[in-house]
Amino acid sequence: MVGVAGGIAAYKSVEVVRLLRESGHRVTVAPTRNALNFVGSATFEAISGEPVVTSLWSNAADVSHVHLGQHADLVLVAPATADLLARAAHGIADDVVTNILLTAHGPVVLSPAMHTETWRHPATQANVATLRDRGIHVLDPAVGRLTGSDSGPGRLPEPAYLADVVADFLDQSITRDMAGMHVVVSIGGTREEWDPVRFLGNRSSGRQGAALARAALVRGAHVTAVVGHVECPVPPVQVRVDVESAVAMHKAMQEVVFAPDARVDAVVMAAAVADFTPSSVSAGKVKKDGSVPELTLTETDDILAGLVASRGHGSGPVLVGFAAETAGDRTSLESLANYKLARKGCDLIVANDVSDGVFGSDTNAALIVSEAGVVDEIPTARKGLVAHRVWDQVLRAPGLGIYDAD
Ligand code: CTP
Repeated sequence: MVGVAGGIAAYKSVEVVRLLRESGHRVTVAPTRNALNFVGSATFEAISGEPVVTSLWSNAADVSHVHLGQHADLVLVAPATADLLARAAHGIADDVVTNILLTAHGPVVLSPAMHTETWRHPATQANVATLRDRGIHVLDPAVGRLTGSDSGPGRLPEPAYLADVVADFLDQSITRDMAGMHVVVSIGGTREEWDPVRFLGNRSSGRQGAALARAALVRGAHVTAVVGHVECPVPPVQVRVDVESAVAMHKAMQEVVFAPDARVDAVVMAAAVADFTPSSVSAGKVKKDGSVPELTLTETDDILAGLVASRGHGSGPVLVGFAAETAGDRTSLESLANYKLARKGCDLIVANDVSDGVFGSDTNAALIVSEAGVVDEIPTARKGLVAHRVWDQVLRAPGLGIYDAD
């Protein structure tokens, strides 16, 4: 069930509905009267393939506003305007969307979009707090260009992000149990320059890292993402640092994790970092001149091991690494994961077998190991679900909560 309130971002809800349908969901759209000033019901009807519910009085015999809320697996309202948040917070049911919210049995996800001043207004913030206390999932708006020339927090996140969030909520129960935490996630693959037109890269799409950032955001964390080359949308994190090479990622990770006021609780190195980089970068394009050029490589620094070293003993963020292995079977995957955990000195390793096409895929299977052995084993699942299980383990890690005392 997708409710649409009357904001300019209503046009993006059409794409959300399309993506949800493409992933196999049945979607009924309920626009408010004001939403219909931005997008006509014919558009919603054609894209959803279902009749659009626009009024409490249409189809009265079916009492559809009650029926829809009761039977929807999930209700998403995108965009949710300040007015809609206010009415929802006070239990007002004066249109079809707010009526559905009062009868919903499944998770309710509201995605606000409005001007920055409206979002930051104490009245809006109080309404958001009330709704969150009640278990309603109010997403944070994205930061960026708004209608007109201004920019700031208030944008509706990109439709692909919202469709992924919906899929995550349908997979598992989610709470804001990471509120107050600051986490850092590295995402994507690095690219090592050889000459002005060539680089050495890898197959990482960034999907697992993006899923980790998304999961932390919906659980209420403040997320810093260090992003290499990605082939997927990056969630609307609070701080994003884009990098290209392993050296640049190393520098950025050290800076964001150990900045004086950063108070980072956990770091997940989901990025695929180049182990080797060309020893020298050619200033001009390497030309075909009859001989095959030789490429000499130098080993890069291990970023994760560097974070472990900088953290020192007994204090600092929980450090999580990934292990991309071509193990072949579960026993070897487990022993490779244990070996990597010991070699890197981090707290958790999420090991996956990349022999059968994990890169670029929407699914992953993983073993999570700590010093205590295997702490979770996840059969092939959406990367969103794997991400939530990784955070579940981070929340149980003995070193977490180091900043709670002061
Ligand atoms: N990693 C890192 N710095 C590197 C290489 C890898 O921080 N220079 C991190 C990755 O982000 C990942 C973990 O270390 O979290 C393991 O990466 P992986 O490629 O599986 O292992 P490697 O350390 O490269 O070892 P090997 O290639 O021998 O498996």
